[in-house]
Amino acid sequence: MNFTSLFAMRCRPLLPMAWIAAGAGLTLLSVAAQAADTSAAQQLERWSAQAGAAGRADRGHVFFSGRHGGEWSCTSCHGNSPTTPGKHASTGKAIDPMAPAANPKAFTDTAKVDKWFRRNCNDVLKRECSAGEKADVLAYLISLKP
Ligand code: HEC
Repeated sequence: MNFTSLFAMRCRPLLPMAWIAAGAGLTLLSVAAQAADTSAAQQLERWSAQAGAAGRADRGHVFFSGRHGGEWSCTSCHGNSPTTPGKHASTGKAIDPMAPAANPKAFTDTAKVDKWFRRNCNDVLKRECSAGEKADVLAYLISLKP
């Protein structure tokens, strides 16, 4: 038996392992890509386009701080200054700052943005937020400096 065939024999069982490892690497990569598939600027563009008008920071500020007939406002959990961490109104758990200037991860995951807009708007307004309201909130949060 020469060296090459010995090598081939001993390495063959390892090949599938290499493929599995490569596959796992690719899966991790695509998960990472999904977790950061958007940006605050893209979300502002997305909601402005759907609303047919650019989001306005001043309106977003009023919307974010206001109680809409219920017990809570957005600031009840996200705080009056979204450049600092918030605190959940009922669980007391810390919430990362909402302003992209203070939190590079804010608004970088479309699924997360959609999930929390749906849930939080229902909690505060008893309905979904409109595209225009979301554009205003984004314009407001993007306008904040740390
Ligand atoms: C009862 C508490 C609570 C209230 C009130 C609340 N939120 Fe939230 N919000 C949360 C929590 C908790 C998260 C998830 C934080 C995390 O996992 O980083 C969150 C996350 C979000 C996100 C996702 C941010 C991102 O980076 O993707 C958006 C958007 C959001 N909230 C919008 C709002 C708006 C708009 C209002 C007011 C209409 C509001 N929230 C009111 C608790 C609240």
